[in-house]
Amino acid sequence: EREVWTGARLGLPGIERTLGLEGRESATLLRVLDSLLTGDSTTILNIVGDFALGRQSQTETDQRVAALTKRHPRVVARNVTAAVAELRRIKSAAELDLIRKAVAITVDAQREAMRFIEPGQNEFEVQALIEYTFRRNGAERPGFSTIVGSGPNSTTLHYNADDRFFDRNDVIVMDIGAAYHGYSADVTRTVPASGKFSADQRAIYQAVRNAQAAAERQAKLNAQGHLMADSASAVIEAALAKLGLIEAPGATYDCNMAASQQCDQLFLYYMHGVGHGIGLDVHDPGAAGGSGSGAALLVPGSAFTIEPGIYVRPNLLDIIPKTPRNLAMIAKIRPAVERYRNIGVRIEDDYIVTEQGVEWISRAPREISEIEALMAQPWTGPAPRDITKIDWYRR
Ligand code: GLY
Ligand code: MN
Ligand code: MN
Repeated sequence: EREVWTGARLGLPGIERTLGLEGRESATLLRVLDSLLTGDSTTILNIVGDFALGRQSQTETDQRVAALTKRHPRVVARNVTAAVAELRRIKSAAELDLIRKAVAITVDAQREAMRFIEPGQNEFEVQALIEYTFRRNGAERPGFSTIVGSGPNSTTLHYNADDRFFDRNDVIVMDIGAAYHGYSADVTRTVPASGKFSADQRAIYQAVRNAQAAAERQAKLNAQGHLMADSASAVIEAALAKLGLIEAPGATYDCNMAASQQCDQLFLYYMHGVGHGIGLDVHDPGAAGGSGSGAALLVPGSAFTIEPGIYVRPNLLDIIPKTPRNLAMIAKIRPAVERYRNIGVRIEDDYIVTEQGVEWISRAPREISEIEALMAQPWTGPAPRDITKIDWYRR
């Protein structure tokens, strides 16, 4: 039995050191395999490829498997990526501990950012403080590109430029996650640049927070993940209708002029799933709210996010197809869209499941009063050295 690995993230010396396995450059992989597979006996080759959660019909790994089978008829090559992804759904106690540590460091960074933020700063100043906090507590890197999006940028889901000066009327979405020994946190907080939510910002924020709380009430040991999604959507829909941003709960619009297709008006403001698994990848296989399948149960060993949002994009009314039905809707929702324009709010927390139940592990301030209280504290420089976290690393 031989195992041959390539690993862009670890590098060749890292593969040997971390995994105790032989690594090869992927450019030479085929040649190495050819030489290993020349024997007469039948060989079974299990191939673990890239983890793409949205699985295409023919992945790169499938193509490699097909090519190898053609070159070596005696070899039974199998793509076992999906089987390994299945194993990754359930984390061991040691993995959950690393996720806890990644999340704890990320919570520190959220708190630092809340204390630091003042109108007139650039998003990159906040990003820099966040990533500094990750590294000085032993996290090796961000688990994904740090999102600090203010004003109109708060309404872009994966805004990564982090280069805009914000002023006192803006909200700032901070979607961040430290990676600790490879495991990524994923925690979002949305804060007012001024330190105080305006009445309109407060209305949107509280709707998202209520949706998250409704999803959390469904997040119970062995519960079906999709109940979290359903309850969050229902709360957001009711709130959007009350604010005048949609016509009514359940109302639809023409989302595709050509195909006369109907979509929920909800999706104009909330266009992503309620959550996903976390782990070695920030979007890891595992329990999430998006799927209705019985497989998405919150079983012990699960680690996942709950992250509802409302995003009032500045160009929303321009990008809706101008059908007669939509023009009637636009006339009704225009005042509210103009009122709440450029307010994007996402609140994202991380949870792990053990035999004891579901535990909320990302305890950064998230109620309006808690955020405002922390932001009111004067910034006197970065927090003192946290010897506890350095000792985690030492051990
Ligand atoms: N940071 C990406 C996400 O929240 O899914
Ligand atoms: Mn997420
Ligand atoms: Mn996130």
